[in-house]
Amino acid sequence: MTDSSNLVLWSFPTRVVAGEGAAAQCASEARQLGATRVLLVSDLGIEAAGLLAPIRAALDAGGLPHASALDISSNPLEAEVLTAACAFEEFGADLVLAVGGGSVLDVAKLVRVAATHPAPLAQYDDAIGGSSKIVEPLPPMIAIPTTAGTGSEVGRSGVVTIEATNAKTVIFAPSLLPDVAILDPAMTATMPAFMTAATGMDALAHCIEAYSAIGDHPMADAIALGGVRLCRRSLQTATDTPDDMNARADMLKAAMMGAVAFQKGLGACHSLAHPLSTEFGLHHGLANAICLPAVLDFNRVAIPDRIAEIAHQLDVRGSDEGTLSFECAGAVRALRRSIGLPGDLRSQGIGEDDLPRLAELAYKDVCHQLNPRPCTRDDLLALYKASLDDG
Ligand SMILES: [Fe+2]
Repeated sequence: MTDSSNLVLWSFPTRVVAGEGAAAQCASEARQLGATRVLLVSDLGIEAAGLLAPIRAALDAGGLPHASALDISSNPLEAEVLTAACAFEEFGADLVLAVGGGSVLDVAKLVRVAATHPAPLAQYDDAIGGSSKIVEPLPPMIAIPTTAGTGSEVGRSGVVTIEATNAKTVIFAPSLLPDVAILDPAMTATMPAFMTAATGMDALAHCIEAYSAIGDHPMADAIALGGVRLCRRSLQTATDTPDDMNARADMLKAAMMGAVAFQKGLGACHSLAHPLSTEFGLHHGLANAICLPAVLDFNRVAIPDRIAEIAHQLDVRGSDEGTLSFECAGAVRALRRSIGLPGDLRSQGIGEDDLPRLAELAYKDVCHQLNPRPCTRDDLLALYKASLDDG
């Protein structure tokens, strides 16, 4: 009998429609999925930015009746999922069309669970094996991202704060994966420069950590390196020149590629970033941007060839592995500086005294378990210390 623990799973199933103006394809894509009535899930910021009008116009032109659920916050609450699920049922919708950043896309995935599975939502928590309870077919979903960072449009999980426990809860199931992702650069053009920069660094961190992570996944590796290359080529332009649709398109692709690649795993940088957001409210992308150089230097000892390859994709000059890997962290710092992001935790109100508690929380985070060099609590503390001031 074959020992299945030696087997690996490679999965790239999302249909992706990409290009300027692609959002107008939402109606025909919905029709192909068998939809007759659509629930549009988005938020008030996206509505105010004028991004929903062309979507509604496309649905109208396609003869698809639609209703909207827009009360979604940046840290989504269970009540927001349930309210949108009620709207889905009351309207008699048979497809969810999500337009927004990672939070909106997450909520939209969970609306499909809440609309088809018994309450409470907490029973589907991945930490207690809840994914096995997501058994009913979910209504189809189309995702149109308005940021270029999380890659949630090709992800299989949603994060929501459950009311009874006030805890951020991950709900994961393969069936949560959207059926179609529409990558339209025009839908990201209203992002302010900071958001473009910070979410872009999240995408870069996904690509770098996925490529560095432990595991046999040559497809994810190749996609991750391609994503690094796109970030190098276009993150600064997308930040400096908001209307540059080629740069915006590159960053949407990089974000999607990062999320496809990190099915292989992430690493220490994300373990360091998570408590910085929950304890100090740092933007997730900024937290990764600050910690990434120290992690690259830490990992250089374990995987010099891979760090050298990342440096190569970042246009570091040099022919030997030692030089390239040594310069990699500096290349990330230079990119970070070029897009106007701070490079130190101290400027974010974090001091030396905060670091032991943060390191404890980072150690409990699972991401570092696939870091190519094992991390102790003290290692994570040292990585925070190395990120206190801009190197
Ligand atoms: Fe991330």
